[in-house]
Amino acid sequence: MLVVIKKNYDEMSEEAAKMVADLIRRKPNCVLGFSTGSTPLGLYKELIRMHKEEGLDFSKVTTFNLDEYVGVPPEHPQSYAYFMWENLFKHINVDPRYVHIPHGMAQDIEEFCEWYEERIKHAGGIDLQILGIGANGHIAFNEPGSSLGSRTRIKTLDELTKRDNLRFFTNPEEVPKYAITMGVGTIMDSKALLLLANGKNKADAIKATVEGPITALYPATIVQMHRKAFIICDEEAASELSRKYSGYLS
Ligand code: F6R
Repeated sequence: MLVVIKKNYDEMSEEAAKMVADLIRRKPNCVLGFSTGSTPLGLYKELIRMHKEEGLDFSKVTTFNLDEYVGVPPEHPQSYAYFMWENLFKHINVDPRYVHIPHGMAQDIEEFCEWYEERIKHAGGIDLQILGIGANGHIAFNEPGSSLGSRTRIKTLDELTKRDNLRFFTNPEEVPKYAITMGVGTIMDSKALLLLANGKNKADAIKATVEGPITALYPATIVQMHRKAFIICDEEAASELSRKYSGYLS
């Protein structure tokens, strides 16, 4: 696991964008795994800039998103599909046929999840999976207690996650209770992982992820077992680490 500590959010985002762009230039038909949330917004902004100013070409890239709320249609402003189109896809030349986002309105969720896993396999696996981390140690919507071998499936959202999400919906009844999420095992099958974290409220989560014991109660800790995992974080998110120099291999 390579931990890279950057001064601030902008530098973290630029470093992450460089890594993604390098991969796209080396392998134009690569498979990228995307996440939503506030953390990757700077990365997406930088990728859009690289596309517009440097001609970074996404036309052959295949994408898979980590998760989506159940019962929230793609056109809903709080859906992760909407988020991805607004914050990245509509600004770059990605081919919509190559974009995959779990379908929150799927009639048969179990069947959909199996299909999603199949599509990832069919695409040749994910070359680089971008991850954020919850303050409770979740990755994607694999909340504390998730099986470390889990595959794409429906998950009940943690109380803390629901509370965090309250601000995005007009009333509490609207806050989704379930999500479709890639499993921890699905994420671990990716050829490389790029976990991003910024801000003081992620400091404990980063400490546990890098230095803590591996436990399903903190699903992000499994990243320690990945053969090619990169963590890029800012100084605030790295502030609780006991060995704190940028670019260290743990
Ligand atoms: C979203 C996702 C989540 C977020 C995590 C951090 O697709 O997979 O695990 O990465 O909740 O969210 P932010 O970046 O908003 O702090």
